Amino acid sequence: MNTYATVVLAAGKGTRMRSTLPKVLHPLVGVPLLAHVLNAIEAIPSTFAFASFAATTHSYHPLVVLGHEASQVENAFGERCLYAIQQEQLGTGHALLSALDTVEKLEPLPQVVLVCYGDTPLVHSEMLARVLVEHLNHQATITFLTAYATLPSDFGRVVRDTAGRVQEIVEVKRATEQQKRIDEVNSGVYCFDSSWLWPSLQSLPRNASGEYYLTDLISIAALQGREIATVTGTLDEAIGINDRVQLAAAEQVLRRRILEQFMYAGVTIIDPATTYIDANVSIGSDTVILPGTMITGKTSIGSFCQIGPASTIDQSMIGDHCIIRNSALEEATLEDGVHVGPFSHCRPGAHLARNVRMGNFAEVKNSYIGAETDMHHFSYLGDATVGEHVNIGAGTITCNYDGVRKNHTDIGDGAFIGSDTMLVAPVKVGESAQTGAGAVVNRDVPPGSLVVGVPARVLRMPQPVDSSTKDGSEKE
Ligand code: UD1
Ligand code: CA
Repeated sequence: MNTYATVVLAAGKGTRMRSTLPKVLHPLVGVPLLAHVLNAIEAIPSTFAFASFAATTHSYHPLVVLGHEASQVENAFGERCLYAIQQEQLGTGHALLSALDTVEKLEPLPQVVLVCYGDTPLVHSEMLARVLVEHLNHQATITFLTAYATLPSDFGRVVRDTAGRVQEIVEVKRATEQQKRIDEVNSGVYCFDSSWLWPSLQSLPRNASGEYYLTDLISIAALQGREIATVTGTLDEAIGINDRVQLAAAEQVLRRRILEQFMYAGVTIIDPATTYIDANVSIGSDTVILPGTMITGKTSIGSFCQIGPASTIDQSMIGDHCIIRNSALEEATLEDGVHVGPFSHCRPGAHLARNVRMGNFAEVKNSYIGAETDMHHFSYLGDATVGEHVNIGAGTITCNYDGVRKNHTDIGDGAFIGSDTMLVAPVKVGESAQTGAGAVVNRDVPPGSLVVGVPARVLRMPQPVDSSTKDGSEKE
């Protein structure tokens, strides 16, 4: 049985981000940096590269090394990880050593330690698996991931001898001019033989920069004549996020990956350059995304929809055959066949049932709108329950806030709300009732009646139900 533990180094101060938020919590395509790294780690056992080892290899929860912002990160990831604290940020070698106490408590003790950095979110699980497999196959002391960079670059350089054997990784600040011209760089993913790693880390000297560099282990192993293997990946995967310029560069790479996945899965994206879709979004086939559209959070969109142009959709559920034009949705639910926009706003708790037509210039908040209901122009419905087949006339407004409380409005099936009606909540409009244009409704409207005026009064009550045919007696 092979055993490997994964340690993610994330205790650095992230000073170059100039942020109060810990670096690994900065979102990238809507997901914190660290989550990308954890996703890749957790997927190793199911990768293609790892297939022949999967059944005979044991792994553990990833162990994350954190610094002074530990509690924020622990709150975000909970029991998904194990945690270790690096009290003082004395470099990547020191950070890994801070994990030793926790690693020693693992049962069985891991033979191999896979190390990643919390700020390299683009690395694929397939690549991590390749490093691990290479390591297990070679029984190497160290195996690490390299890439070819375009120079200049701030990655550590991989120095090899004339026979191509790795001699050291040299950080840019300590590199000679000649070493700076080396384009093979360190991506920051390593596998170590654990029986060699821990004693070597404990004797790692503090270097001229006053830190303990993990990368200095390479030259130590090389001088001892130990086997050092490398795997070469792409530069995209190696992007490390040290500042917000690199954050934007990574966002661009990931965004392109996400859009391509959708396009291959049958979603038309008219203009990938102006379309932003987060990692946790799902979209059905034959949906078309028009330019200038941003779809974020945990959003799901069905098939045969048309989304955009210029729309933002966050944390929403959208059925099939929906059309959303120039509009904003947040935490909204749209059943099949709903049309929104142009220029409309569904706020949290908006639930539009089948075939609702909303907009232009309409807003719905915390309200259920029944199937086949129309609210076409300049309307606001807040804290309302609206039935089916209702017509909401232009300019209708639920006056839901009395300065203290939010009050509820109920509108029954088949009601007809005249243009410019003010519904002063709490208020109920009965089934099939009508309000006249400009009515200010501050009392409940009986089913089937017509109310008009300010304040609205009943103009016509519904015709009494004719029961004459049943009991035989005539009524006028
Ligand atoms: C590091 C590598 C470099 C490599 C690059 C790849 C070292 C010395 N250099 O450089 O060779 O090309 O990554 O992206 O390793 N950290 C701690 N505690 C510390 C210091 C850092 O936990 O005391 C963590 C950071 O949070 C970060 C990771 O280690 O996630 C890497 O540290 P960083 O300072 O970003 O190293 P780089 O300069 O990017
Ligand atoms: Ca970095």
